Amino acid sequence: MKQVDLVFGTVYGSAQFVAETLADELSALGYLPRLWLPQELPGFTPDTGLLIVVSSTTGSGDLPDDIQPWYYRLKSEAPYLPSLRFSVLGLGDSSYSEFCGAGEKLNELFAELGAKQVQPLLRIDAMETMEPEIEAKAWLAQWHQRVQSEIAA
Ligand SMILES: Cc1cc2nc3c(=O)[nH]c(=O)nc-3n(C[C@H](O)[C@H](O)[C@H](O)COP(=O)(O)O)c2cc1C
Repeated sequence: MKQVDLVFGTVYGSAQFVAETLADELSALGYLPRLWLPQELPGFTPDTGLLIVVSSTTGSGDLPDDIQPWYYRLKSEAPYLPSLRFSVLGLGDSSYSEFCGAGEKLNELFAELGAKQVQPLLRIDAMETMEPEIEAKAWLAQWHQRVQSEIAA
């Protein structure tokens, strides 16, 4: 069974709910999801396997407080992560000028650290949907196909 690490950053809980929904979906698909709580993140450096990060954006393109310390630690320690395969889902609102800015920052960080992107950044717009988990589930189905085809290759 393939383990998938799931990390979320949230202010009001939507990104956490999306991450929890993805964990259930991953289990149904035969993966072993590991959902990291914000208080556990200081001990977690994702150096191998599959990582999915779900983060909303706050302030003006900023990361939520619960995921900020993890982001800045990885940015300053800058581990080289060539064995990591990552994907990011951003929750945001296109009425803000920095739409999904936190998702973009996370996506850039993992690319800078040498990790391989499985699936392009998904930006979920609160102006378009009240149910971000529905878009996230459709995105995960594509993610699963990509992971499967990598294994088959
Ligand atoms: C004070 C505040 C600032 C926000 N700033 C941004 C922003 O800069 N860019 C963006 O795309 N969305 C922004 N949003 C929208 C949230 O990211 C969006 O509503 C998201 O779904 C909230 O998810 P959460 O419940 O996980 O925090 C902001 C929302 C609030 C309330």
